[in-house]
Amino acid sequence: MKTTWVIIIAMLLLTGGLVLAQQQREPISDKQRWDGRYDRETYVYGKEPVAFLKEKLDRLKKGKALVLAMGEGRNAVYLAQHGFDVTGVDISSVAIEKCKRLADERGVQVNAVVADLTDYDLGSEQYDLITNFYFYDKSLLPKVKEALKPEGMFIFEQFSMDHLKLAQRFGPKTAKYLVKPKELLEVFQSTRILYYEDTVIELEEGMHKGAAAIIRLIVQKPAE
Ligand SMILES: C[S@@+](CC[C@H](N)C(=O)[O-])C[C@H]1O[C@@H](n2cnc3c(N)ncnc32)[C@H](O)[C@@H]1O
Repeated sequence: MKTTWVIIIAMLLLTGGLVLAQQQREPISDKQRWDGRYDRETYVYGKEPVAFLKEKLDRLKKGKALVLAMGEGRNAVYLAQHGFDVTGVDISSVAIEKCKRLADERGVQVNAVVADLTDYDLGSEQYDLITNFYFYDKSLLPKVKEALKPEGMFIFEQFSMDHLKLAQRFGPKTAKYLVKPKELLEVFQSTRILYYEDTVIELEEGMHKGAAAIIRLIVQKPAE
């Protein structure tokens, strides 16, 4: 009888240990990580658009816009307020809900889509404008070129490799999320480069607060 109990307890401990080990091994997904970051009342990057978007708005081609990795919607809502027909995509459903709330607050509409951009179909010649702020997936860029209408524009801002030298507490720490010098110019060499800047600026956008090494780009797809 005593031996049976010892065996049962040993088996329970072993099962518990295996479950715990399994839980510890399972890596947290990007969606879980971003949902966790956005799960608060305040807007993590604020409600105002990226300064570069605001500054260049008048130069951008009006019409149908796609906002990649739009987060809580500060840039998507701003474009909708300025007459664009906006679709915004993000992996985080929590962010998408916050975007919808911001759009309601500002009295505009955004077609807000929860999707992983790694396998999201951007389509062909669909958009007058595509934006990409503070998200970097180099493999997406050829799809961006394809998804632009002739004369459509792409506006981009993201941390560059130099950001690592600034040892800031914000921004990516992994090279694959940082833009290397000239790599965008190579990808977009078949387009018209309207603007390119590789610089250090002072950011004041929610958790992005302080010096930031960034690359900014605006390109235009040639007319057919
Ligand atoms: C630094 S935030 C920038 C958000 C927004 N662009 C802005 O400037 O406020 C990066 C965003 O990328 C989104 N993201 C990360 N991986 C993604 C993926 N594979 N597909 C779609 N969105 C993704 C995150 O959910 C997050 O909202």
